[in-house]
Amino acid sequence: MKIRITDGVHWLGVNDRRKHLFENMWPLPQGITYNSYLITDEQTALIDTVDFSAAANYIERLTAHLQGRKLDYLVINHMEPDHAGMIGILLRLYPELKIAGNKKTFKLLQNFFGITANLHEVADGDTINLGRHTLKFILTPWVHWPETMMTYETTHQILFSGDAFGSFGTLDGGIFDDEINFQYYESEMRRYYSNIVGQYSNMVQKALAKLHGTPVRVICATHGPVWRSEPSKIIDLYERWSKHEANPGVVVAFASMYGHTEQLADYLARRMAERGVRDIRIFDVSKTHLSFLISEIWNYSGLLLGSCAYNGNAHPMMEQLCEAMSHIGPKNKQVGVFGSCSWSGGGVKNIKAFVDASEFICPADPVEVLGTLAADHYAACDALASAMATAILS
Ligand SMILES: Cc1cc2nc3c(=O)[nH]c(=O)nc-3n(C[C@H](O)[C@H](O)[C@H](O)COP(=O)(O)O)c2cc1C
Ligand SMILES: [Fe+2]
Ligand SMILES: [Fe+2]
Repeated sequence: MKIRITDGVHWLGVNDRRKHLFENMWPLPQGITYNSYLITDEQTALIDTVDFSAAANYIERLTAHLQGRKLDYLVINHMEPDHAGMIGILLRLYPELKIAGNKKTFKLLQNFFGITANLHEVADGDTINLGRHTLKFILTPWVHWPETMMTYETTHQILFSGDAFGSFGTLDGGIFDDEINFQYYESEMRRYYSNIVGQYSNMVQKALAKLHGTPVRVICATHGPVWRSEPSKIIDLYERWSKHEANPGVVVAFASMYGHTEQLADYLARRMAERGVRDIRIFDVSKTHLSFLISEIWNYSGLLLGSCAYNGNAHPMMEQLCEAMSHIGPKNKQVGVFGSCSWSGGGVKNIKAFVDASEFICPADPVEVLGTLAADHYAACDALASAMATAILS
């Protein structure tokens, strides 16, 4: 089966429905794709490869597309093994293959595979002419590795963007953005962005600035759908996400052993709803994987962090979330803190220290209750909920 993107350009991606954890860490409830693209012209070029584990029929499809021709170029936009997995096999199959990459690509190529021959080094703005198609290389370092670059096909204005604009989730029949339900992919796209790329948002901003003025008709990322009907939609989303622009709403993430902190979460959420906040999402951090929490946190402008006290600190699952946030670095958030303890506390105090060390705004004092939520805590809770609502909706 051939999936044609345009004249001489085909999708050669594979779906991975078997892997549980991407990078052995991120749950894949809806799987993931690794997208590779083939250009057949006077010369042939493959843009990125796929993960070795999911490559069952990749080589058969590639050779069927090539119809006995040889592969002239392999362009490596990104060396992470989920895309570089098939390089060794390709070199054995096509010994004259020229590998196009930048200086940093080749360092990694040697580190991973010991490959030092067949190299065609490109610098920013360099081109390779394949015939009717010309490939122009745009270096976009640190989106999200040092060597990451994009390849722009100038005739049909196709941007092969690497992991940028990528998404978790397999392509189940629909390959192109006009063949899928965007809503289904948006949350997985944001989970991919926030957890994998989000830490490098300033470099994403630089990459977007560099692309500014380049007409893009199709975006071909290494994961998720091909954007051909409305590429500006995903570019706009990346603009927003990388600028830390969020929707008005509050994520309430709590850690609770026996339910007292959860009681507070429900109370605060109810009070915020009464004050007009329409998007409130409560999560038990012990149940929801932190990649989903990070994605929701990225999406909303408000965050309430709650924890019971646990051996002088916050609950370990809340510590894990705070640790992840301090690495990944969501910004521009209104953040409130709450919790329950039984003697000298430790949860609220440590979360507040994390919030103060981050670039977050704290619109009200934290609330800490001894044991259960009682009438004498209502005023402090109401003040916190009210300040959060005002900060979010103003
Ligand atoms: C293992 C463990 C460690 C705790 N450590 C502290 C502590 O350091 N300081 C404190 O004030 N309370 C501590 N507590 C008490 C709980 O924080 C307190 O009972 C709280 O109300 C529990 O809230 P939860 O129902 O949301 O889990 C600890 C409880 C347990 C089980
Ligand atoms: Fe990657
Ligand atoms: Fe990737």
